Amino acid sequence: MRARKLVIGLAAATFSLATLAGQAIVIKFSHVVAVETPKGKAAAFFKQKAEELTHGKVRIEVYADSTLYKDKEELEALQLGAVQMIAPSLAKFGALGIRQFELFDLPYIFNGYEELHKVTQGPIGRSLLDMLDSKGILGLAFWDNGFKVMSANTPLRRPEDFKGLKMRIQPSSVLDAQMRALGTLPRSMAFSEVYQALRGGVVDGTENPPSNLYTQKMHEVQEYVTLSDHGYLGYAVIVNKKFWEGLPSDIRQQLESAMDQATRYANQIAKAENESAMAEVEKSGKSEIITLTADEKKAWKKVLLKVHEQMSDRIGKDLIQSVHKETGFDPAKF
Ligand code: LMR
Repeated sequence: MRARKLVIGLAAATFSLATLAGQAIVIKFSHVVAVETPKGKAAAFFKQKAEELTHGKVRIEVYADSTLYKDKEELEALQLGAVQMIAPSLAKFGALGIRQFELFDLPYIFNGYEELHKVTQGPIGRSLLDMLDSKGILGLAFWDNGFKVMSANTPLRRPEDFKGLKMRIQPSSVLDAQMRALGTLPRSMAFSEVYQALRGGVVDGTENPPSNLYTQKMHEVQEYVTLSDHGYLGYAVIVNKKFWEGLPSDIRQQLESAMDQATRYANQIAKAENESAMAEVEKSGKSEIITLTADEKKAWKKVLLKVHEQMSDRIGKDLIQSVHKETGFDPAKF
């Protein structure tokens, strides 16, 4: 404990000297998506607010589009202190040994943003972020992206249409189970590799919110996009704990205030960003958009809701139940 205090004390002294000498504290913020996405825009917003509120004592360097690190690397880089801030998708926390975050990947667990926010902005969300402490990481906030569409080069209307397809997934056991329930062969791969993999036929299809599909030009190599809203994709903004706790407290407070504002902004724009990305996909005429009938939706749900039960040991029965309770989970509402 004393040693830890000493390290933190030394780090704080270094920062004070740096700021006294007029040098800005640099925060490297790495992420994997395009600048023109909800996460890309929120990262840029945070940079602007943080630099403004700290009067230039902090400089935020945002590295978008996997230009600094890819998915798995950025988590390692954060723990090693090579970057100070990242915002991975909640489907990527299993690599840290924290499986509970995969609850967000459960198909049909949230019927819209309002239900989701009951979790991300309430006590369940806070307790999930607190689990990161033991990994040398602090969870600052949840940022929204949106609800996913499914894409492929063959029309995906009924569960049978998936049979035998190779589908790219994020590295989450829940997503693996989801794709297997549909009869596909899931392939986990880094986000930066998806476009090429779709283009070259390494995989046949994928899932993502429209903002990611459109900005990575995936729709240009996918003939069909189904508006399925079958699952959610969002982020936790996380920082290296030692770095964050070593910041002078006034600066840390200013950064926390910038983060609060960026979080409000992210969660305000996400829905509209995804709607406009979907409109652009449609306008491009590159893929045919499929809207499911009530009957088809029912068939998807019948197959996919089983994944909740199947994954309950991994995620925790109590946790899943507490989410169901918080949101008033009712599959009939979808
Ligand atoms: C993906 O890998 O598909 C997403 O997690 C990318 C992202 O950060 O939105």
